[in-house]
Amino acid sequence: MRIDILTVFPDMLEGFFNCSMMARAQKAGLAEIHLHDIRDYTTDKHHKTDDYPFGGCAGLVMKIEPIDRLITDLKSQRDYDEVIYTSPDGEQFNQKTANSLSLLNNVIILCGHYKGIDYRIREHLITREISIGDYVLTGGELAAAVMTDSIVRLIPGVLSDEQSALSDCFQDNLLAPPVYTRPAEYKGWRVPDVLLSGNQALIDDWEFQQSMERTKRLRPDLLK
Ligand code: ADE
Repeated sequence: MRIDILTVFPDMLEGFFNCSMMARAQKAGLAEIHLHDIRDYTTDKHHKTDDYPFGGCAGLVMKIEPIDRLITDLKSQRDYDEVIYTSPDGEQFNQKTANSLSLLNNVIILCGHYKGIDYRIREHLITREISIGDYVLTGGELAAAVMTDSIVRLIPGVLSDEQSALSDCFQDNLLAPPVYTRPAEYKGWRVPDVLLSGNQALIDDWEFQQSMERTKRLRPDLLK
């Protein structure tokens, strides 16, 4: 899978994608993540990516030309399944969205900034608008990082079998059960006996009961 991220702050994302699982996925050839600086697609001498809004309200709006040039350039090289815009007024991102996006081949994610982007970009170039939650970030870069991370880890081969994404929290609309590691006792705090029993059927049952109990208590909305 290939993800092209369009941003005015590629440096914000560089370090994130060069670490841990995201770096491993790229090195293993399972994911390609390309960061593009929208500023490189300006043609004026000040490399302006934003301008004052028509109508006189406060704030700056991202300009249409550099973004259109960049998207057109990418589309001339390959077909894209989705051109996503990160925005607090988009559809809410969740595990189901991550699952379906992880099945695609080529995706563009455009990071918004300032007061937003010229609305014609949303009308003519964007195929999907996604929010990562009901709060406003200064820009879409963190949203692009959050989405890309949760998508890429679902690509077969990125996680090892033991880390399998199938046992993730939310994968079956349940919160994950508690996990423990050695030592089995620390300061008198003991790991539940069942986990040390070696009886897999009992352990599976216990984990399911714990998932149900935690979901009922913490996220009853998931059970509806
Ligand atoms: N840009 C600013 N806030 C955002 C949010 N909550 N989700 C996605 N993109 C954003």
